[in-house]
Amino acid sequence: MRGNLVLGNLIRPAKANSKYFPDRRNKAPPRQFIFFTGLPAGGILAAMTQLAERLRGKFIVLDGPDGSGKSTQATRLADFLSGQGCQVLCLRDPGDTQLGEGIRQVLLQGSARISPMAETLLFMASRAQLVQEKIRPALLAGKTVICDRFVSSTLAYQGASGVDRLIILDLAEAAVGGIWPDLTVILDVPAKLGLDRTGQRNQLLMRKKAAPGPTLFGDRFEARSLEYHEAVRRIFRELVKEYPHPAAVVDGSQPAEQVTEQIIELLQRTFER
Ligand code: TYD
Repeated sequence: MRGNLVLGNLIRPAKANSKYFPDRRNKAPPRQFIFFTGLPAGGILAAMTQLAERLRGKFIVLDGPDGSGKSTQATRLADFLSGQGCQVLCLRDPGDTQLGEGIRQVLLQGSARISPMAETLLFMASRAQLVQEKIRPALLAGKTVICDRFVSSTLAYQGASGVDRLIILDLAEAAVGGIWPDLTVILDVPAKLGLDRTGQRNQLLMRKKAAPGPTLFGDRFEARSLEYHEAVRRIFRELVKEYPHPAAVVDGSQPAEQVTEQIIELLQRTFER
């Protein structure tokens, strides 16, 4: 089954087909390529214990358009996996190193003009540091790394600004030094819904007078046009066909619990053996 995930094979967006909460079972008919057909024999508990073991030293990326819910899902997934006995490290890209947070500040909130290629290189520099300082050591120590965004974001966002996909992949190859995700989960939401969600989040943060920072009150990328965000979404959806590493799409417009369930089922299937 795992072979289905490798080298650009398409995994269709998951439809709810929950084995955990059958009362929320979606009535949609199964689609030909749906990957989530049920849990392995032996029961849920046994499957979960095995999952924790199989996720040792695995690198999982959650990605998607702005407002797709990846940060929420990263937290929910980390909580779930920790409860299963995994040692989890949650990271965000760009960021989570001193250099990365500095680059994040420049990229998201700075006033300097930055060309799409310069953006690409800055994201890659932050990523190279994150891999070297945090991701590689954590994986070597047997932790499960969950990263909020990675190379897939550069393909989508800087790709939507016109940077060539193959150039991005070449630069990424150098930046990540062989540390590619074992699975990239793309949370798919319509661009308008994603932007509405981030708009609401930003208003809430403003009302709470939260301390300003690169994640608050909207950023340089969120401020771009709806057309740009639609192009970003298109690339994310297409990515599973072309990304040279395992990737799958999950419908991020569903309620958060349902999205989490589908991510867990996806992990079950991906790391089946
Ligand atoms: P994100 O961390 O998701 O922002 P937030 O804190 O609001 O959740 O991402 C910051 C922005 O950076 C987002 O709009 C996407 C953009 N981005 C790129 O353009 N290229 C990249 O390679 C990455 C990682 C992010």
